[in-house]
Amino acid sequence: MFPIDEYRRAFEWVLETDGAQALQYGPSEGYRPLRALLADRLSGFGMSCEPDDILITNGSQQALDLIGKVFLEPGDSVLVEKPTYLGALQAFNQYEPTYVTVPMDDDGMLVDDVEQLLFHQRTAQSIKFIYTVPNFQNPTGRTMSLKRRRRLVALASRFGVPIVEDDPYGELRYDGQALPTLKALDTGGSVIYLGTFSKILAPGFRLGWILACPEIMETLLHGKQPSDLHTGMAQQMATYQVAKDGFVDRHVEHVKNFYRERRDVMLRAIEEHFPAEVHYTRPAGGLFVWVELPRYIDTRELLIDAIQAKVAFVPGQGFHPDLSGTNTMRLNFSNVPPDQLREGIRRLGYAIQRRVKEETVAGSRIPRQAANRLYTHWLETDLAPAALGDLLAQLHPQAEPADVRSGVIGLSWTVRGDATALSTYWIEQSPPVVEVTYRVLALATRTDILPRTLVGIITPSASHVRLVAEELSRRLLAHVRVESTGSAPSEI
Ligand SMILES: Cc1ncc(COP(=O)(O)O)c(C=O)c1O
Repeated sequence: MFPIDEYRRAFEWVLETDGAQALQYGPSEGYRPLRALLADRLSGFGMSCEPDDILITNGSQQALDLIGKVFLEPGDSVLVEKPTYLGALQAFNQYEPTYVTVPMDDDGMLVDDVEQLLFHQRTAQSIKFIYTVPNFQNPTGRTMSLKRRRRLVALASRFGVPIVEDDPYGELRYDGQALPTLKALDTGGSVIYLGTFSKILAPGFRLGWILACPEIMETLLHGKQPSDLHTGMAQQMATYQVAKDGFVDRHVEHVKNFYRERRDVMLRAIEEHFPAEVHYTRPAGGLFVWVELPRYIDTRELLIDAIQAKVAFVPGQGFHPDLSGTNTMRLNFSNVPPDQLREGIRRLGYAIQRRVKEETVAGSRIPRQAANRLYTHWLETDLAPAALGDLLAQLHPQAEPADVRSGVIGLSWTVRGDATALSTYWIEQSPPVVEVTYRVLALATRTDILPRTLVGIITPSASHVRLVAEELSRRLLAHVRVESTGSAPSEI
């Protein structure tokens, strides 16, 4: 996979023809011919630029560190996707920011939420930049849609908040049409674009770049000088020799074919071996598949089983600044040959199936830890699920809105308003349920099935459930008509 022969020849050539320059100190901005080559390539991708607009870094990782160094003071905020690249969090964490997280769907970060956050002036002032990986994101493999890209760039310029666009995977697209980068859509200089040779040539030489407007470039350069003076000349010169004359473009084609096959193998194996309650992404490029398991499975515990079966993955919690996502994991299809990929996924699928079986009561989908301990009572309301989620979040500030919302989503398949049938649903957030005195879950019925929303009150105490139901009815009544389903508190 790595262009070893090309690098061997390139290093020989560099040392023979210009050894003194290769072994000498060099300019902090980077080796000029390499910057010119990059300016050419990036302009070809719609990011019109000059060599002077480019700063060579020790991989994108150094770029992330530099950005943290020049933009962040303790207590400042960074707006990030949830989940986001762990290495970016590690780089920024050194400068003690807080994180404002924005959820994602298959079209990338929810830009409506970004607008809301920026609109609230107080938050906007402390958000120093928006960090995003719009192409085949690490860890989810998701790609931001064109519409959202345009809106995000417009928002950044409207609110004067820079965007850090981290794009190590953009060239590794296996299906469909390339989308313009945020930088290509940016006319006002709001976007700082990060690229790297790590995924298209080799990560070992630690070569990346930043493309930014001159003022930002100047500050970044001042941030880089005290840390390393400049990136190593020999590897810049050799990489230039390897990359020039179109080699890098030809090599990218080869890399894409190589990874595409592995992605396909992994997705087929997942389809075959993972149980139906598992959700996963289908990336059109990059290296990662993101997996969401039922909430009662903690992937850090699953990893222990997996390692015993000689399979590894990255538990998803570390990609969440708020340490949520305990039921998620990142799979990487780039590193292992197809046969091993198939076998690895088969073993992982088995480990997941076993956990599902262990954690749920036979014949039902109720998590074992919740069974025999919880009581429910049901209310019906005309309020739409999302609005209900918001309302419950206000009524119960001690409950996390995210939990309430995921309750709304998690139970959206609930059957027609038959309260007894509902007692065999799958309680998505079983661990928190047993920990708190009571928790209110909104059970959304899909509007095509039932235009009502059922609210399930779940508590570990039979006597408490009525009190909670009464209190909730009283409060909800102020907003909306509520009918009790009339069911007695039922043990589930
Ligand atoms: C999103 C993202 N940014 C940055 C990096 C760091 O790349 P580099 O090897 O150029 O430092 C990675 C590496 O995996 C990554 O996934």
